[in-house]
Amino acid sequence: MQYTFQNETNAATLSADCVVVGIFQDSALSAAAALLDEASQGELSTLLALGDFNGKKNETYLHYPRSGVNAKRLLLVGLGKREQLTSATLASAAGKAAEQLKTTQMQTIAFFLSEESQIDARPASIRQCVQAISAACYTFDGFKSAPATETTTSDKHWIIADSGSADFSVAVTQGVAIANGITLCRDLGNTPPNVCTPAYLADTAEDLAAADKVTLKVLEESEMEALGMGAFISVSKGSTLPGKMIVLHYNGAGNDDAPIALVGKGITFDTGGISLKPGAKMDEMKYDMCGAASVLGSLRAAIDMDLKLNLVVVVAAAENMPAGNASKPGDIVTTMSGKTVEILNTDAEGRLVLCDALSYVEQFKPAAVVDVATLTGACIVALGSHICGLMSNDDDFAAEVLAAGRKADDEAWQLPLGEQYQKQLESNFADMANIGTPGAGTITAGCFLARFTENMTWAHLDIAGTAWKGGAAKGATGRPVPLLTQLLINRAASA
Ligand code: BES
Ligand code: MN
Ligand code: ZN
Repeated sequence: MQYTFQNETNAATLSADCVVVGIFQDSALSAAAALLDEASQGELSTLLALGDFNGKKNETYLHYPRSGVNAKRLLLVGLGKREQLTSATLASAAGKAAEQLKTTQMQTIAFFLSEESQIDARPASIRQCVQAISAACYTFDGFKSAPATETTTSDKHWIIADSGSADFSVAVTQGVAIANGITLCRDLGNTPPNVCTPAYLADTAEDLAAADKVTLKVLEESEMEALGMGAFISVSKGSTLPGKMIVLHYNGAGNDDAPIALVGKGITFDTGGISLKPGAKMDEMKYDMCGAASVLGSLRAAIDMDLKLNLVVVVAAAENMPAGNASKPGDIVTTMSGKTVEILNTDAEGRLVLCDALSYVEQFKPAAVVDVATLTGACIVALGSHICGLMSNDDDFAAEVLAAGRKADDEAWQLPLGEQYQKQLESNFADMANIGTPGAGTITAGCFLARFTENMTWAHLDIAGTAWKGGAAKGATGRPVPLLTQLLINRAASA
């Protein structure tokens, strides 16, 4: 697959196997559709007048132009009501078109969609269109003995066209980088837990470290013990697979530029440990490393975009298993920070691996740190699977993360932190318990992490509801790679 940007083109003169063009509800022509209509002496208005197609969201219609148009085919895509148009609508239309065209023999396919968005929103819109095309072509069938569907995506050339005079080729490059980051994230999430182990995540990090500006250090359990990471070890020790703390540095800016730190929960399988989870849908706990997958995917994108900023990416990779030597409810462990934790539930393991990872990144004096984790089932209760939970110790930074999510159509919603909730974590025997008293489970998990990030500008994303889909369309979503990469793009631009 290949993606290119083409500007100063007219939809009617562009030569392609297919031109994809938007039509608004009630048959209103987009700018590109109006040009095509004029060039073809009204072919589009004639067909719209027949009423076969009227521009409802994601409705499609394939038309073979008879005159005045260089493209062999036109695919009309419904955009819904013009006054309700968002970049997400345009991206969804692009995805719908790609879905329909990916199994055809057409090779050169040009999209005239992003030009319908405001000029300053266009780069984000273009990035989203590229992501939608990539998502439509995504397959994960390497574990089937024969692919489920025959596709012809490898020789496709997707053209993002825009009749405006501005050059948005950077946005296309970025869109491709982000799409590849999302694909890496999804692939890691979907890979079965007997393959995607802590060592596999470390191997993936090693692949990323092949890039010029990237260095890698993998802390083994013995080193973590020496650093006093008792919380991490308490989770990992019940598994026969060694846990890994994976530390990547991306140097895209000057040496004394404070980095952004991204920390991911990488539980490659969460059985719950001795506080064993029930059996139903337990397979989905292979997705408990999606926070890790998303920070690795975002690093992939940052490398490919050649972003001018410094990044530290830390993945806390371990398997949470019941075993004779596993942690028990009641155990008390000492974290790298020196604070002690009473483990009341071994299934609240994400915060245990993350607290030591967060203490570890403090030495890099990050400008800001974001941790990403499939942390609590309670987040699904609160926000469902549409929006990520966000908690932060800095309202300005929270606003920045929320804005990045909105721009990337990968939304988060802020939940509070505070003393009332902190009290729920009190323990009779240690500095804190690893679970709160009943109620506000997402917030008490955030409060736990807040105790390890007091000296940093920090935000926490709970992606338990957004990282994967269950049911018939089971699979990793790649979220929140779009949010994280948008945040990085914004930071690099403001540096
Ligand atoms: N990985 C789970 C959270 C989770 C559960 C994500 C279901 C997606 C779907 C996490 O490790 C966990 O088990 N959390 C517990 C915390 C509880 C013991 C305080 C939970 O949410 O039940
Ligand atoms: Mn758990
Ligand atoms: Zn977990």
